Amino acid sequence: MKTILIFIGGSACAPAPIQVGPDRVGTPIPGLDVVWQARFDEGDRLFEVPFSPASGVGPVYIRSSCAGCHADDLRGPGIVEKMALVADDRVTPTHTELDFPWGVTVRAQLAAGARTPVVPPDRTDLLLTRRLPPDVLGVGLAEAVPDADILAEASRQHREVPELAGRISWVAWRGGANPDTGFHSYGPGATDLIGRFGLKAAWPTLDAFTAGALHGDMGVTTPVFPDEAPNPDGILDDGKPGVDLDLDGVNVIADYMRLLALPERAQPDDPGAALFADIGCTECHTPSFTTRSDHPVPQMANVQALLYSDFLLHDLGPDHADAQVEGEAGSTWWRTAPLVGLRFHRAFLHDGRSPTVEDAILDHGGPGSQARSSIEDFDRLSARDRAILLAFLESL
Ligand code: HEC
Ligand code: HEC
Repeated sequence: MKTILIFIGGSACAPAPIQVGPDRVGTPIPGLDVVWQARFDEGDRLFEVPFSPASGVGPVYIRSSCAGCHADDLRGPGIVEKMALVADDRVTPTHTELDFPWGVTVRAQLAAGARTPVVPPDRTDLLLTRRLPPDVLGVGLAEAVPDADILAEASRQHREVPELAGRISWVAWRGGANPDTGFHSYGPGATDLIGRFGLKAAWPTLDAFTAGALHGDMGVTTPVFPDEAPNPDGILDDGKPGVDLDLDGVNVIADYMRLLALPERAQPDDPGAALFADIGCTECHTPSFTTRSDHPVPQMANVQALLYSDFLLHDLGPDHADAQVEGEAGSTWWRTAPLVGLRFHRAFLHDGRSPTVEDAILDHGGPGSQARSSIEDFDRLSARDRAILLAFLESL
């Protein structure tokens, strides 16, 4: 098992190494001390273990473990489906909270005596969309990108490429406090946080996302979200009385994801990376940010986060409408997908509509998409250049 360090050359200030692991998933970043290694191992266990009725799954849920939707830290097999009611254009949402009193997420699995699943209504104005799980590789690096650098990238886009400029996903803290301030000090009442996780960038940090996934996808309550999600049978508690998982459980799962190594990947001097920049893909898929210098995990401080995302929202046009509005993200707006783990995936774009990387590129350049002109340039590449670019992307 070899571990490599890639250096970005050519800069006057000392280049920071990108921390990468071997060419496989599920390994920690190299050189963790025993304390972080122990948290990685415990988080790994909790990420895998299915919750049972006795340990608090339900009353309504989708899957009983994180790994049920992020097997090997990747994409699937479980997915999420969202419900909306739409106008005739199939783009504009027309529903209110009253139309979906149990929320817009389909939850068909039952526990704790629940008898009524949350399923789509039989209506012609229903728009039911799929969400494939992104992988959870590189998310620790994404969390470690300073806000100021995302703000600066948003300003750069407005100045230099206004026709495709992205939007910052401003969000408020959701749920209860997390007294562990190792990674951030946000809590109830905090607003103007930069959302960076989720397909519409609705969540600001990994601990918040973890608590949200436990609650929304698995029906597992924590001190962050202590009440069972509203459900048709009005069940107020499940098979495990009170809160199902404590805060350290939430934080240890978040730490597991933070400490996962990026698998070995193509170097920035790959000829495909130059083509990727030449045709404007990097206007949104920002190759890299430098992580904060005061990161609690020394190996993650001041390193290049080579994730190919600006963490901003972009309008991809009506072909990408899901009629879900999450904060700043309207029906057709999506976060630039970090390009991580592409070589492991078998379905691409948020709903898995594209069977190959090449299809995924072409499929987000439809009418009204901010990516259209860049993707037209992709379509005009010679067969040789197209092959070089795809080989680069398929090595990520
Ligand atoms: C039922 C399937 C399902 C389960 C169970 C599930 N996830 Fe996910 N996960 C998803 C989907 C779908 C998304 C995209 C969510 C969105 O934007 O609506 C996602 C997104 C994420 C992200 C954001 C990644 C990124 O690139 O922004 C993280 C982190 C994550 N999940 C962690 C977890 C953890 C931790 C658990 C267990 C506590 C978990 N997930 C359980 C389906 C699932
Ligand atoms: C206007 C911003 C923008 C530009 C320009 C852009 N993309 Fe994207 N890209 C996105 C967004 C947003 C997504 C997420 C779409 C989704 O999930 O449906 C995405 C998704 C992808 C994916 C799918 C990733 C996955 O995990 O499924 C690939 C591959 C990709 N882009 C490659 C490219 C290439 C190659 C180019 C240049 C030809 C390019 N993109 C130009 C914004 C952009």
